[in-house]
Amino acid sequence: MRVEKAGVVGAGTMGAAIAEVLAFNGIPVVLKDVDPALVDRGLARVRAYVDELVAFHAERADKEIARIAELGVALTDAQQEAVRSRLRPKVTRARGDEVIARVRGSTSYDDFRDVDLVVEAVFEDAGVKRTVLEALDPVLPEHAVLGTNTSSLSVSRLARGLAHGPATLAVHFFNPPTTLPLVEVAGGVDTREDVVTETIGLLEGMRNHRYPLVPIRVKESPAFVVNRILIPVLNEACFVRDEGLASARDIDLALRSGAGMPMGPFELGDMIGLDVVLEVAETLQRETGDPKFRPAVSLRRLVDAGHLGRKTGRGFYDYS
Ligand SMILES: NC(=O)c1ccc[n+]([C@@H]2O[C@H](COP(=O)([O-])OP(=O)(O)OC[C@H]3O[C@@H](n4cnc5c(N)ncnc54)[C@H](O)[C@@H]3O)[C@@H](O)[C@H]2O)c1
Repeated sequence: MRVEKAGVVGAGTMGAAIAEVLAFNGIPVVLKDVDPALVDRGLARVRAYVDELVAFHAERADKEIARIAELGVALTDAQQEAVRSRLRPKVTRARGDEVIARVRGSTSYDDFRDVDLVVEAVFEDAGVKRTVLEALDPVLPEHAVLGTNTSSLSVSRLARGLAHGPATLAVHFFNPPTTLPLVEVAGGVDTREDVVTETIGLLEGMRNHRYPLVPIRVKESPAFVVNRILIPVLNEACFVRDEGLASARDIDLALRSGAGMPMGPFELGDMIGLDVVLEVAETLQRETGDPKFRPAVSLRRLVDAGHLGRKTGRGFYDYS
């Protein structure tokens, strides 16, 4: 599978970061959203990811020298030079600017006429996603692969009747894709086997800011593997808080300190976006019919109020 140009639809949290990862791997990307302001916001996110990486590389040697000094070891000039040489920035400002320049914003599907791969990352709403896929279908070249970043929806249903249906599959990145390497790849009922294997092969050859990407093949099923396990944990944390067992802060502290989780469930929920958490919980409940997936009312109320986590400045915690 050769990807000389890719497209990403939806320049939000995931779309902008996925565009950045593709561009970081040398692929020119067109990044689409519904209006110019949202496209600009997405491009600004791409720049911010790159700037953060460039700064990390630029400061690495100085930080290492300072760390060694704090241990009470005075490095000679030659030793400092050796550290600088070993930690020479791999991503320079110039390389970062090349990555930024590879991502072009758009509000039009016309720019998708020559893409080899599209990743759709619009709202987790079957109607919205289906509208996007139907708009892309007649525009894409025949050979194009159509990936959806859905967290929980059925690929078979999203792809039903599309000319590109056999080339449609889930490519489910994790937040933030710039540092989390997992991608769950799932074909639907009609997805061609070669589309799945070649997409996995493509992703295996790519890396994000920290690691080589880790694509795993999963069966098409509500929420795939990670969210099938993770979302019930976040939901259960709400029930635990609502029953007054402990505060959100203490539950987060408990799961970090006692279960080895790098983030507590409420911190993680606020980062993922509470609308996404709720949507996935609802889909799990609807698709499996299993009452154990019933979303907590307190989670629903925060979403009703528009408190969706970090992206709105308030969720379980206040970020203002
Ligand atoms: N946030 C996460 O942690 C996470 C992780 C993995 C997967 N996902 C999935 O990724 C997808 C996107 O989630 P997100 O958190 O980035 O959402 P988001 O709300 O941050 O971004 C969605 C973007 O899609 C745009 N959009 C909506 N309709 C559009 C259309 N017709 N054409 C072009 N753009 C359109 C919106 O304007 C918005 O900018 C969802 O399917 C979600 O389930 C999210």
